[in-house]
Formats: sequence, structure tokens, C-alpha cells
Amino acid sequence: MTIVELMKKRRSIRRYKISPISKHLINKIIEAASYAPSGLNRQPWFFVAVSNSNLKERIRQECEKHERRFYEQVKGNFRESLSFFDLSPVKSFLTQAPYLIVVFAKKEDPYWKESIWISIGYMILKIEEEGLASLTYTPPGMSFLNKMLSMSNNYKAVAILPVGYPDEKVNLSKRKRKLIGQLVKFID
Ligand SMILES: Cc1cc2nc3c(=O)[nH]c(=O)nc-3n(C[C@H](O)[C@H](O)[C@H](O)COP(=O)(O)O)c2cc1C
Repeated sequence: MTIVELMKKRRSIRRYKISPISKHLINKIIEAASYAPSGLNRQPWFFVAVSNSNLKERIRQECEKHERRFYEQVKGNFRESLSFFDLSPVKSFLTQAPYLIVVFAKKEDPYWKESIWISIGYMILKIEEEGLASLTYTPPGMSFLNKMLSMSNNYKAVAILPVGYPDEKVNLSKRKRKLIGQLVKFID
């Protein structure tokens, strides 16, 4: 498959089979992230791959606690989008998926925000290439992850990627993309 074919095929998945995946595959996914460009080549990323069921359960409980608080106060357009996508504070994928890759960025490195998101882009395509699925999950509170995963405070958790085999039929009509004509203007 070409890269563009992979890009078109990739979809966010929120239900996973419990089938395990190997550490070798997780290493290949992290290796793909390591090829991302980064500001001043600082490579401001670190990844914690969690398969321990007990730890996944604790991460889920903490995320759901933050989600419930968030759902209580979210209003307007954001609330409408959440119900359009049938999202709720329940995050079963955090315990279903065999692995959670927690993405940390080193806050003191210049351009860490820009760089970390490119590395995530590389990973989600590699996950697709391996016939697996993922979701870029950004819970409303993530600082608890430093203590839970023994990461120093120089690092900031930016996303959790559940990784596993998909167990969901995606409704593509809710995931339409803007047309090229809406995205670009040429100035010759
Ligand atoms: C920066 C970012 C944050 C996201 N955060 C969440 C999230 O917290 N929860 C969630 O269910 N999906 C999250 N998503 C997934 C998007 O909802 C999804 O990519 C979008 O609806 C398009 O669907 P697709 O990925 O299947 O093409 C996030 C995606 C990005 C890029």
C-alpha cells in the first residue's frame, strides 16, 4: 500500500479485540516515531508502552474521572460535537486494547509541541501498516500519568494511543473530509 492509501484507510478506533500483540510490533511502531523530524533534532519524545492489566485499569479510572468532570461543564458547540460522535466519559478502549502507548514530550526542548505531533502522525500510520488500529486519545487531564508511570516532571504526557485489532465498523459518513477546494488557494 502507498502512504496515501494508508492515510485514507486509517480511522480512529474506539473498540478493540482483546487479542494480544507482540512487543516486537510495539517496538516497530515506536521505531517509526523515531524517524520523525524534530526541532533542532532534539527528538523530544519518550513512549511508555503499557500492557499490564492492572495499570491499564488504573489509567482508565483516572481518565474517566477527568472525563466526567469535563462532561459536567462542557457547553455549546463542543458538547454538540461530543454527542454527534457518540462520545461519553466511558473509555473502555483503555482496558480493551492490549497496549496503551503513552506519549511523553520533553517540555524544555524547543519546538516540542510541533515535533511530538509529527511523531504521533508517523506512529498512527505505522500502526495502520501493521494491520492494527489506534486512537489519538487526549484526556482532559493527563498529569497523573507522570506519577503513575514513574516519569520525571521534565516530561509532559500529550496523548494515549490504544493499539490493537479493531472490533468496530466505522461510520464513514461522520468522518468526511473537507474537499481540496476548501483547503487551498494557489498564488502564482
Ligand atoms: C489532537 C487530537 C486529539 C484527539 N482527541 C481525541 C479524544 O480525546 N477522544 C477521542 O475519542 N478522539 C480523539 N481524537 C480523534 C478524532 O476525533 C478523529 O481523528 C476525528 O474524528 C477524525 O476521525 P478519523 O481519525 O477516524 O479519521 C483526537 C484526534 C486528534 C488529532
